[in-house]
Amino acid sequence: TDNRTPLVAGNWKMNGDRSLVEAFTYSLNEQAFEGLDVVVCPPNGYLSMFNSEQFSLGAQDVSHLSNGAHTGDMSTDMVKELGANYVIVGHSERREDHNETNLLVAKKAAKAKQAGLTPIICVGESLSVREAGDVNAFVGEQVAALFAEMSADTLDGVVIAYEPIWAIGTGKTASPEQAQEVHAFIRNTLAEHDAALAQRTRILYGGSVKPDNAKALFGQPDIDGGLIGGASLKTDDFMAICQAAI
Ligand code: G3P
Repeated sequence: TDNRTPLVAGNWKMNGDRSLVEAFTYSLNEQAFEGLDVVVCPPNGYLSMFNSEQFSLGAQDVSHLSNGAHTGDMSTDMVKELGANYVIVGHSERREDHNETNLLVAKKAAKAKQAGLTPIICVGESLSVREAGDVNAFVGEQVAALFAEMSADTLDGVVIAYEPIWAIGTGKTASPEQAQEVHAFIRNTLAEHDAALAQRTRILYGGSVKPDNAKALFGQPDIDGGLIGGASLKTDDFMAICQAAI
């Protein structure tokens, strides 16, 4: 019904090495996935080692600041020059490890969008938030924070990834119904600002997506693909998940 092109992105996190870059370059260039956007997000330093003809590259994080005196950071200009078209922002691991707030995440997304990168903005609740029955309030606030930094026009083209923290790296996937419920909630939240934006925005699911559960998740009406962690480090698994999204 909707014309959203599905997207599957692999988030390598702080994993991989040159030989894994070579294995993915080879495997993914061998096979074109028609009607699917495929993105690999290696550690930022590996971006330029890829030769990506059939897929896109994404950074795992980027600074909200412009080039200048900011030791250890990488700018949108830099990740673009290294070959990235996408950038993950606000992953729960960065929110946790580096105290990234909703405001900072929104600033990063705005900076990325302004630079012509597609931000993949991560949201999602912890187990305690879910058990307290506060999923919508929590995720709703994460989404609302984006509108404080960006207009509906600027948000057009961004990707949102719903990653329940309790499902990340745990082998505990959200059921397709559980995920769909939150995805629909996120889309409705966008619709409160702009109905067309809500219809166009791709919302990915992330959290223990594997070849054997991908199809059921991606089959949900508001799930437009996945953000894949562990299974994105194995060429065969990642390709099988890509196949499941078509
Ligand atoms: O960003 C992807 C991620 O957090 C999910 O990781 O290992 O549960 O697929 P994983």
